[in-house]
Amino acid sequence: METKIKIKTLDDTNRLSAIISGHLFPGFILGLTGDLGSGKTTFTKYLAKHMGISANLNSPTFTILKVYDNENLNLYHMDVYRLEEIGYDFELDEFIYGNGVSVIEWYPYIEMMLPVEMLRVSIRVEEDDLRTVTIQGEGRYLQIVKDIDSRYRNEIYLP
Ligand SMILES: Nc1ncnc2c1ncn2[C@@H]1O[C@H](COP(=O)(O)OP(=O)(O)OP(=O)(O)O)[C@@H](O)[C@H]1O
Ligand SMILES: [Mg+2]
Repeated sequence: METKIKIKTLDDTNRLSAIISGHLFPGFILGLTGDLGSGKTTFTKYLAKHMGISANLNSPTFTILKVYDNENLNLYHMDVYRLEEIGYDFELDEFIYGNGVSVIEWYPYIEMMLPVEMLRVSIRVEEDDLRTVTIQGEGRYLQIVKDIDSRYRNEIYLP
């Protein structure tokens, strides 16, 4: 199932990440895609906050992976944009198929390493800072998409 929502402010990103944070489970995989600067890291920052992580989350572009240990679920934040340049790291599987929550910026670059079942989030910047966010998931991820869809269904975005 797929749903599309419109967001405009950081508050909207905060709200969306809060809803998703309520559905996380061990081994959860969230793939993020969208142009440079579309808000992938920003979304992850809010998600980390809702997961109870107090450390300041920075973009892992030059490290590929940052691990945030947490009392409940650990967060593995990846940005695979420069993976080919920096070097393919097979150890990423250990995290992706581990017991934490993996958030992968530019996930289409490693699609072959990823399971079919995961939450796919695509952010598209339209004019005037308006962003269209497409959220897709099946199986264990279906309920999240349904939840987001029902919460936003009757909201008409008035710029
Ligand atoms: N919902 C939003 N409303 C307003 N500004 C936003 C929103 N989301 C992100 N931004 C702004 O866009 C800029 C880029 O965001 P961010 O670094 O999260 O993008 P990114 O998709 O991770 O980029 P990259 O592809 O380089 O990793 C930041 O200055 C951020 O504050
Ligand atoms: Mg980023």
